[in-house]
Amino acid sequence: MEDEIVEEEKLIQHFKVDLINKRHQVGSLIPLLQSAQDSYGYIPEKIIYYISELVNIPPADIYGVITFFAQFRLKPAGKNLIRICEGTACHVNGAKTVLSVLQDELGISKDETTDDGNFTLVSVACLGCCSLAPIMMINDETFGNLNADKIKKALKKFYIEEKLLVET
Ligand code: FES
Repeated sequence: MEDEIVEEEKLIQHFKVDLINKRHQVGSLIPLLQSAQDSYGYIPEKIIYYISELVNIPPADIYGVITFFAQFRLKPAGKNLIRICEGTACHVNGAKTVLSVLQDELGISKDETTDDGNFTLVSVACLGCCSLAPIMMINDETFGNLNADKIKKALKKFYIEEKLLVET
């Protein structure tokens, strides 16, 4: 219990330093949430309460904002973030099939992380390259004109890279 409190204190201290380093304007909720997301890869509960005090907005309202915007996460992401596009162009070109192949291959649904922590699957509205629909991104890499084979190859590539990293 004491360890937990110390960890929470460290978390908040780290966030405060981060805000100072970024010369953050206290009072603006979204940039504060973005800062927390950048620092931790998600927004920890303790930080939500801390931000709530800073901006004088109840934590429940902040949760509402976090769940409204797809860019924010309440849980840590896996090592590789898969963003599948469900925008209009991707939707009409087979985004549903892409999602279903990914779910089958990974054994997870949207907004979940694989048990080995390798992949988190999220969906977004448009990735900005509609001419290549249907699209997904794994981290910063874009995969377009997807079909089941391409998806499997892309996943395999990341599994192999992961394995190589572990072995070296
Ligand atoms: S709709 Fe999918 S990239 Fe634009």
